[in-house]
Amino acid sequence: MKIIKVDNYNEASAKAFEVFKNQIITQPESILGLATGSTPRKLYEMMIEDHQTNGTSYKQVKTFNLDEYVGLDGADEQSYEYFMNHNLFDHIDIDKQNTHVPSGIGDIAKNIADYNQMLKDNPIDLQLLGIGSNGHIGFNEPGTAKDSVTSLVDLKQSTIDDNARLFFGGDVTKVPTQAISMGIANILAAKKIVLIACGQNKADAIKTLIEGKESSECPASFLQSHPDVTVIIDKEAASALK
Ligand code: F6R
Repeated sequence: MKIIKVDNYNEASAKAFEVFKNQIITQPESILGLATGSTPRKLYEMMIEDHQTNGTSYKQVKTFNLDEYVGLDGADEQSYEYFMNHNLFDHIDIDKQNTHVPSGIGDIAKNIADYNQMLKDNPIDLQLLGIGSNGHIGFNEPGTAKDSVTSLVDLKQSTIDDNARLFFGGDVTKVPTQAISMGIANILAAKKIVLIACGQNKADAIKTLIEGKESSECPASFLQSHPDVTVIIDKEAASALK
């Protein structure tokens, strides 16, 4: 595991941007695994700015997102599909047909089966991850098995609380209690993985990811067995490390 320590969120985003830009330049038909939440926002801003000023093209890129809330459709401002359109896809030259976010409405079992098949058919070259304060990656909460694939998951109260602080206008009752998430096995199947973590509330999870034992209690620790993981952390997220 490669660990890059930086001073702050902007520097962390810039380091991740270097990896993503290099991926797209060297392999224009890359398949990217993407994340939502507060962490990737700056990286996506940098990708948009780079596309607009330098013409970096996403015309041949395909994307697969980690997760989606159950019950929210793409028109809902809190859905991850809306987040991706608004924060990235609407501002670059990607073909929307090539962007994929699990669907949290309609026939959930079919949506999940279809997503797993699409992931099999489209192996991810570069996967972006954030990390939950409880050690989740995607919405794979503590207790998730290493061989899990895309499935319907129940969100832990800590995740619901974390997400209400930043989204849903602070209203915990508005956060869906279930989501569809790519599983750990889907994430580990990516050729290369970049995880960004910033802030004090990520320090314990980062300590377990880097210094702890591999265990489903901290699903991010399963990344230890992947051959090409880069963890980019700011000072606060690194503060509990030895
Ligand atoms: C989002 C996702 C989650 C987040 C994690 C951290 O697609 O899969 O694992 O990366 O909850 O969220 P933020 O970045 O808001 O701290």
